[in-house]
Amino acid sequence: MQSTNEKESFRFTAGEMKEIGYKVIDSIVDHYTNLDEKRVHNLKRKEELRPYFDTEIPVRGTDPLDMIDHLNQHAFSNIMHTDHPRFYSFIPAPTNYISAMADALAAGYNVFAGHWMSGSSASEIENITIDWLLKLCGFPESGGGIFVSGGSVANLMAIVTARNTKLKGGEQGAVYFSEQTHSSLTKDLRILGISKEYQRPLAVDKDLKIDIKELRKTIQEDLNSGLKPLMIVGNAGTTNTGAVDPLNELSKVAKQYDLWFHVDGAYGAASIVTDYGKNALRGMELADSLTLDPHKWWFQTFEIGCLLVRKESHLFNAFSTSAEYLEDTKSPLPSEKNYYDYGIQLTRSFRALKFYMSMKVYGLDLFRKSIKKGIEMAEYVERMLRRNPDWKIISPAQMGIVNFQYQPDGVGDEGANELSKRISEQVLQDGYALIITTKIKNRTVLRMCPIHPELTREEIDETIRRMEHFGKELVD
Ligand SMILES: Cc1ncc(COP(=O)(O)O)c(C=O)c1O
Repeated sequence: MQSTNEKESFRFTAGEMKEIGYKVIDSIVDHYTNLDEKRVHNLKRKEELRPYFDTEIPVRGTDPLDMIDHLNQHAFSNIMHTDHPRFYSFIPAPTNYISAMADALAAGYNVFAGHWMSGSSASEIENITIDWLLKLCGFPESGGGIFVSGGSVANLMAIVTARNTKLKGGEQGAVYFSEQTHSSLTKDLRILGISKEYQRPLAVDKDLKIDIKELRKTIQEDLNSGLKPLMIVGNAGTTNTGAVDPLNELSKVAKQYDLWFHVDGAYGAASIVTDYGKNALRGMELADSLTLDPHKWWFQTFEIGCLLVRKESHLFNAFSTSAEYLEDTKSPLPSEKNYYDYGIQLTRSFRALKFYMSMKVYGLDLFRKSIKKGIEMAEYVERMLRRNPDWKIISPAQMGIVNFQYQPDGVGDEGANELSKRISEQVLQDGYALIITTKIKNRTVLRMCPIHPELTREEIDETIRRMEHFGKELVD
C-alpha cells in the first residue's frame, strides 16, 4: 500500500480499498464469532487509555491497516460489549450482522435521506419500514413516523408535536408522567424550556405503574388553578422494571381532558409482536405518538430510534420547513415526501436501511421468537433465584427485566443494599457477566435484562452461581 504519509488525494486504489475493507470485515467477523469468549467489559481508567491514542494533531497520515490493528488492540477491546450475550445491564444491545453491514452500505454510498430528490429509494424504504411498524403497533392508516437517533430524540419530538397540535402560540401546558419514566423525558422537557412548574412526575402504585387516581386528581387541580394540561406520557416497559402503565386507562383520561397521549415504548414496544406483548401493551395502539427504538429490542446497531404518530399530518405541521434553496426538492406528488419536513434533521443518514434489510433477511418470525425468548429468560432467572431463599425478588420478571437482592438471614435492609453494590462490583471485576444496580422503592437492587437471543440457560446458571459465590464471600 502506498504510504499515506505522501498522499496527494483522499483516493485509494481499488486494491487498497479492498484490502482496508477486508481488514474491517475480518475485525467485525472476529467480533461476532468470538464475542461469547470475551470478557463482557474492560473498563480502563483515563490515564491508562490516553497513551494509546496519540494526542497530537496528525499532520501526516498513518497506514490504515496499522491503524485498524491499533484500534482493535486498544479501542475496541477497551469497551463494554453491550452486544455480549451476558451483558444484562441497562437495555442491552444485541445486534445482528446484517444491520452492521447495512450501516456500511449506507455510509459507503453516503445516502442522503433528508429529501426525496436526493434519496428517493431511501425515502421509499423508510416509508415502507415505518408502515410495517405502524401496522405491527396497530396504528391507523393516517399514521406516520420517522427514524431518529434514539428514544431521547423521539420523546423530544413527541413533546414538540403535542405542543404544536394542542397549544396556541406562546401557551404552556403541563406534562403528566410517572416517576418511573425514563430520564430522557425530563431532560427533553428541560431542553424545550418546559419548566418544573409544568412537569408533573406522578406517584406509582405498588407495581410501579402510574397511579390513575393521582393522575386524575392532579389534572383536576391544575385545571382548577388555571394551568392548562398538555399531555400524558405512558410507559410501555419502564427501564427499571419493565412495568407497563395502564395504557387503556391513560388513553381514556387523555380523551376526557383532550390531552395528547404519548407512549414511551423505546424498549418494550417491540414485544408487541409476541402474544405476551399483545396482552401487556393493550392500549398502546390508542396513543397519539409512540417512541420505539429499533436499536434496543429490534436487534439493530446504534443509532436508530423511531417516533410513530397516529396522524402523519401532526408531524408535518410540527416540523415542516421551507427555504429558497429547498424549493426544487418539493415534489408535486404528496406521496414523495421529504423527511426533513417530518423531523429535526435536514441531512440525515439512511437509518431505515438496516431495519429494512434485517427484517427482509431474517423475517419477522425470527424477531418474534428472539423477543419471546428474552421474556422467557427473565422468567427463568426469577425461577432460578427463587430456588434459594437468600435471594429476594424485588420486582418479578416482566418485559424481560427482573430485579433482586441478596439477603440471607441476619442481613438487614441496609446490609442488602450494600451487598447489591458489592456483588455488582465483583461481577464487574470478574468480567464473565455485567450486572449493575438500580434503585427500586428505596432499595439498591441487582437488575438483569437477559434479552440476548444467543444467551443460554447454562450461562444464566453460571451467572447466578458466581453472584451467589460473591455474595457468600462478602457475608462471611
Ligand atoms: C424507556 C426508555 N425511553 C427512552 C430511552 C432513551 O433512549 P436513547 O438512549 O435511545 O436515547 C431509553 C433508554 O434506555 C429507555 O429505556
